[in-house]
Amino acid sequence: MSRDRIRIADPAAIDEAAALLRDCALVAFPTETVFGLGADAQCDEAVARIFAAKGRPAFNPLIVHVADWATARQVGALPAPLLRAAEAFWPGPLTIVTALVPGAPVCQRATAGLSTVALRWPSHAVAQSLIRAAGVPVVAPSANRSGYVSAVTAAHVAEDLGDRVAMILDDRQPSPVGVESTIVTLDPAREGALIILRPGAVTAEALAARTGFGVINSCTANTAAPRREGPQPSQPMAPGQLESHYAPGAEVRLEVLAPAADEVLLWLGPAPAPAGAAATLVLSPEGDLTAAAHQLFVLLREADAMCKAGHSNAQRIAVGPVPNTGLGVAINDRLRRAAAPR
Ligand code: TXA
Ligand code: MG
Repeated sequence: MSRDRIRIADPAAIDEAAALLRDCALVAFPTETVFGLGADAQCDEAVARIFAAKGRPAFNPLIVHVADWATARQVGALPAPLLRAAEAFWPGPLTIVTALVPGAPVCQRATAGLSTVALRWPSHAVAQSLIRAAGVPVVAPSANRSGYVSAVTAAHVAEDLGDRVAMILDDRQPSPVGVESTIVTLDPAREGALIILRPGAVTAEALAARTGFGVINSCTANTAAPRREGPQPSQPMAPGQLESHYAPGAEVRLEVLAPAADEVLLWLGPAPAPAGAAATLVLSPEGDLTAAAHQLFVLLREADAMCKAGHSNAQRIAVGPVPNTGLGVAINDRLRRAAAPR
């Protein structure tokens, strides 16, 4: 692993990182959800380098990160329900998918040529300082190899992409939320309602309560589920929501109550973990879903490393049940994709 690109995110490093972005270089930076692999949204060459660095398919568009309303409005339309959602949760772990404003400072490659754009205003202090210092909208996918477990520490980014980024800004702690932002858009089937394309820290209940609009979850709804199985349509509602994603090297088995001797068990309390696994990693001893989300990718990567090293003969990952409420919806979404056939 090449860790020499990691820099503590002090003001001098943030200024250097901003200059690198303006020079069309790639900079990884912490956000409250996961680390992002950032580039100037206008720079086609830099955006092409993001796709190449991650091994990301060109049809999968990027999220444009902003740090003020004026830039947000330059990039995406803000019709009433989406504006209400943005006002309630920005800055924070919410991404809205909306119509791209003609002439927006975003290159075509970033949106995969779509007429819509994903827009987010992160709350993390380093992310905000970087975007403001760069003075440009910043596209940033999660800073991991495409299809692999997302990165929530600077060391994770270095492991995955170390020599492919100019700088990795480090705030010395794992991303506070630990799973990606909630992605929401207008529900095409119901006027004035919202549909969640990717569950995240902002739950459907919270969105409905704070906006007053109806909200459904595309991964639990029958009508609008864009991504369950079969061939991918050419313009899916959430092009990145491929079935296999967040996948560690080791095989993953879900809803496990009786782990095998060759499995590393990821377990959510408060019930004690069942015996029999090669090793057990606890997501949250109290069964707290916020804590579990914070630990999810850290422990998935740790379990994967144990399997790779053959620690206590571990070969596979087993995960105990996680309740499908609140943040548990996002955790289960990531786990399902991590366990999906590759
Ligand atoms: O928390 C996050 O959102 C992190 C941090 C770094 O901000 N970013 C992130 O980016 O998760 P990424 O690229 O890993 O996931 C972005 C998702 C993909 O599933 C992509 O398909 C979807 O957003 N997306 C982007 N533009 C879209 C669009 N116009 N319509 C529908 N989905 C879109
Ligand atoms: Mg990602």
